[in-house]
Amino acid sequence: MRKIITADGSLTLFNEEYQEAYHSTKAGAYTESFHKFVKPTKIVKLAKEKNPIYILDIGFGLGYNVATAINEVAKNSPDSKLIIYSLEKDISILDNLKNIEPPEELKNIYPKLLNGNFESKDIDKQNFKVYTVKDKNFEIYIIFEDARQTIKKLYKTNLEFDAVFWDAFSPKVNTELWTVNLFKLVKKLMKPYAILATYSASLAVRKGLIEAGFKIGLVEPIGRKSYSTVASLEGEIPPLTEKEKERLENSPYAIAYYDNEKLTLSPQKIKEEWEGRLKQNLDKV
Ligand SMILES: C[S@@+](CC[C@H](N)C(=O)[O-])C[C@H]1O[C@@H](n2cnc3c(N)ncnc32)[C@H](O)[C@@H]1O
Repeated sequence: MRKIITADGSLTLFNEEYQEAYHSTKAGAYTESFHKFVKPTKIVKLAKEKNPIYILDIGFGLGYNVATAINEVAKNSPDSKLIIYSLEKDISILDNLKNIEPPEELKNIYPKLLNGNFESKDIDKQNFKVYTVKDKNFEIYIIFEDARQTIKKLYKTNLEFDAVFWDAFSPKVNTELWTVNLFKLVKKLMKPYAILATYSASLAVRKGLIEAGFKIGLVEPIGRKSYSTVASLEGEIPPLTEKEKERLENSPYAIAYYDNEKLTLSPQKIKEEWEGRLKQNLDKV
């Protein structure tokens, strides 16, 4: 995969299948993980109050979000533990990890990520094949399959997460991971105070989170003009601006993505159906 040096000097890769980089090149890969995922989910503060902390990480990718979370919590609460469930469909990312030159802050963590084992794990009668990494301050379980199917299985367990990193590729190309159906399942997997953070500023995504029953808020932009998004059931999150409330109510683009009940539609089908509804909306304007 082609390497790209991002704005803060940290490295990312370009994914040919999705024709997108794994991180924002303008914000910087490491900076994006810190400002759009670790900070908005407030895990550093949480780790001072609760041990262990459970994180659901959608799209392990190159592991920046996970490694940044581990680094920040370990720095601030050395006795805390993070238990991270990472969902990822592409097993070849483990090879990519070997080729990543991690930023200085994460240099100690990457060798540990490569030191895992594949094993079979039972959680409340659900069986998962996982790549497991265990260390003093963290446990990571990477589950390699379509995240939609993993979330369906996790839904049947009693697991409840303290924070969620939602980091799929963009809704236009990775549409199956941005639907109301999936957000509804994840909602049940979150503690009431837990915060879900995503880099996305898409109206369709924001509308989808609201329809799934979340309240949503905006996170100060970094490396671009648009604010990123947080969602929670009862957690303290920054408010929506009046302008964004108005857009969510009146813009023809404020329509959510939908999957079928089994969560098996292709991204193209989900997008086509959405485009059909968008066209109807635009015809009315
Ligand atoms: C933007 S990258 C994630 C970057 C990552 N969070 C990091 O910090 O380096 C999106 C990831 O989602 C994965 N992905 C895309 N569709 C998926 C699906 N349906 N199920 C599971 N993983 C998926 C991709 O393989 C890719 O690794």
